[in-house]
Amino acid sequence: MSATTPDLPGGTWTLGDTTVTRFGYGAMQLAGPWVMGPPKDHDAALAVLREAVDLGITHIDTAEAYGPRVVNELIREALHPYPEDLLIATKVGGRRDAEGGWPTARQPDELRQQIADNLETLGVDVLDLVHLRLGNAQGPVPEPIGAAFETLVDLQQQGVIRHLGVSNATGEQVAQAQRIAPIVSVQNMYNLAVRHDDALIDRLAAEGVAYVPFFPLGGFSPVQSDTLTAVATRLGSTPISVALAWLLRRSPNILLIAGTSSVAHLRENIAGAGLELSAADLDELHKIAG
Ligand SMILES: NC(=O)c1ccc[n+]([C@@H]2O[C@H](COP(=O)([O-])OP(=O)(O)OC[C@H]3O[C@@H](n4cnc5c(N)ncnc54)[C@H](OP(=O)(O)O)[C@@H]3O)[C@@H](O)[C@H]2O)c1
Repeated sequence: MSATTPDLPGGTWTLGDTTVTRFGYGAMQLAGPWVMGPPKDHDAALAVLREAVDLGITHIDTAEAYGPRVVNELIREALHPYPEDLLIATKVGGRRDAEGGWPTARQPDELRQQIADNLETLGVDVLDLVHLRLGNAQGPVPEPIGAAFETLVDLQQQGVIRHLGVSNATGEQVAQAQRIAPIVSVQNMYNLAVRHDDALIDRLAAEGVAYVPFFPLGGFSPVQSDTLTAVATRLGSTPISVALAWLLRRSPNILLIAGTSSVAHLRENIAGAGLELSAADLDELHKIAG
């Protein structure tokens, strides 16, 4: 399912009916501190989005809750009308409160409203990929997902959602969703140091479902490890490059959505993700998660 493109490391992956570059872009950080917009440099944020597309990225991850509204509106301003091959993935299931908190919002009427808001702010008639965001800010919570997921399936049948996914989900919740309707991706927290989902990734790879790690670089707490630094130094590279290259090597169904608010970092990350890792490097990196 994956192929090699000359431009971006990792080649491509097919999400439902759409082929995307495995090297994608996560837009959350564009909203600025606490993901509460507006960004301090509006034009710089637009420049990152345009550079991502110019460099060949065809998968951008967002959510109405980022900003809130701000990141979707930046994407629209920078890129609308969207290139045909660009897939924009969004999330529903949470909202923002006045203090910047992330309360859950998964009642059917709340989800319908969030879909309507995403359609409006992104300026589209159909959302390419919608993840149902489960659990809470602390992580996945093992609870039934049926009514919420069925609401999204209903909206998919009405034609306003092309593909479905789940996020911040337990393995059992992924299976619950799959018993209701096909999903094309799971977006959970995962990186070199946080590997609770190892078995889930392998299961999804066998099923042809994408796994999209959020916080691939550790998010607000960058992945730090002496082993990672040692491997990066030995290879004449950086810990961030090694962390991204490792994810691409970990499994062919892993899609990168590393975030950055900097054009220079975006370019650096594309170059870095193409780093060659030997079997010995991989063995050493494997030990980071204990
Ligand atoms: N489903 C969910 O619940 C959920 C939760 C969180 C995030 N997400 C998604 O996951 C995406 C990725 O997560 P994330 O952006 O929070 O975390 P991340 O990708 O793990 O890390 C982003 C951080 O790394 C820094 N960074 C990136 N490249 C760098 C470089 N070359 N040198 C130095 N620093 C660098 C960025 O700073 P600079 O801006 O300075 O480059 C930013 O602070 C988000 O954009 C969002 O779309 C989803």
